[in-house]
Amino acid sequence: MKRILITGALGQLGSELALALRQRYGNDSVILSDIREGINRDLVEGGPFELIDCRSYEQVARCITNYRIDTIYHLAALLSAKAEEDPMYSWDVNMNGLLVMLEAARLHRCALFVPSSIGSFGPETPKQYTPQDTIQRPTSIYGITKSAGELLCDYYHHRYDVDTRGIRFPGIISNLTPPGGGTTDYAVEIFYAAVNQGHYVCPLSGDTFLDMVYMPDAVRAAVEIMEADPSTFRHRNAFNITAMSFCPEDLAAYIRTYIPDFEITYHIDPVRQRIADSWPNCLEDYAARVEWGWHHDYSLEEMTYDMIITIQERTRRGTL
Ligand code: SER
Repeated sequence: MKRILITGALGQLGSELALALRQRYGNDSVILSDIREGINRDLVEGGPFELIDCRSYEQVARCITNYRIDTIYHLAALLSAKAEEDPMYSWDVNMNGLLVMLEAARLHRCALFVPSSIGSFGPETPKQYTPQDTIQRPTSIYGITKSAGELLCDYYHHRYDVDTRGIRFPGIISNLTPPGGGTTDYAVEIFYAAVNQGHYVCPLSGDTFLDMVYMPDAVRAAVEIMEADPSTFRHRNAFNITAMSFCPEDLAAYIRTYIPDFEITYHIDPVRQRIADSWPNCLEDYAARVEWGWHHDYSLEEMTYDMIITIQERTRRGTL
């Protein structure tokens, strides 16, 4: 029987991945953990939940032993804009947390999923159709921890044969748990603002292109890569994936097909803009498609439609 531990399980990706994994493997087989209990009672009470600081080897090892964990999704990390507020703390959480999980996976023979990001790229990276293997040299502290993390995961695989696997996620658009402190967060906030206020003040300039993926595709990718037969892998960690690339002006235009009076204005946040300018405009994700069958179901049009009707429906029911 599969036994899965998720760290950062109450975050944007964790909360939806947790629901998908519970549905797939049963509620008791998926152990959620986070540094605090958060506000989502359904998630915390729907199955095993542990308060764990991923930097504590003792806490992690105790949980792995108690629940006989064989697979870990290590999602706890600080996102890019938030990380710039306190680089030392971000290094501590993102790197020392990862090292604890790698050691725990090594000593307890667990498979380990670690998300990387478009943030692992930098200004010298080719911006258009960014290849899988290319120059990275990120300039944000978040990106530095992500690219170092990719290398560490490769190291643990080659040196200790730990079954590490990972994806470089683009911005993830979703409507259950809001992201916190990311550069791509605008692409989520804009939908809530459009539905509820008809107006959004965007922190990035209108022509800033970034890659994105809709949550159902992101969750499916995380499940599928861990279930894939690794004999077809040429890469292991940090597979580029993408589903769409757009800028705020484009997204606003798509939203106007449903909310014609929607207005977007700009108040640039220099921290987020600098980070976004250092990231690719659009990735090439051939390796993921060939090596483990990645594909996306949601395009920009389909995602926009689904986000708007879901948020409208929740607003009507008062469950936002
Ligand atoms: N969504 C993340 C961020 O903006 C990037 O992986 O920080």
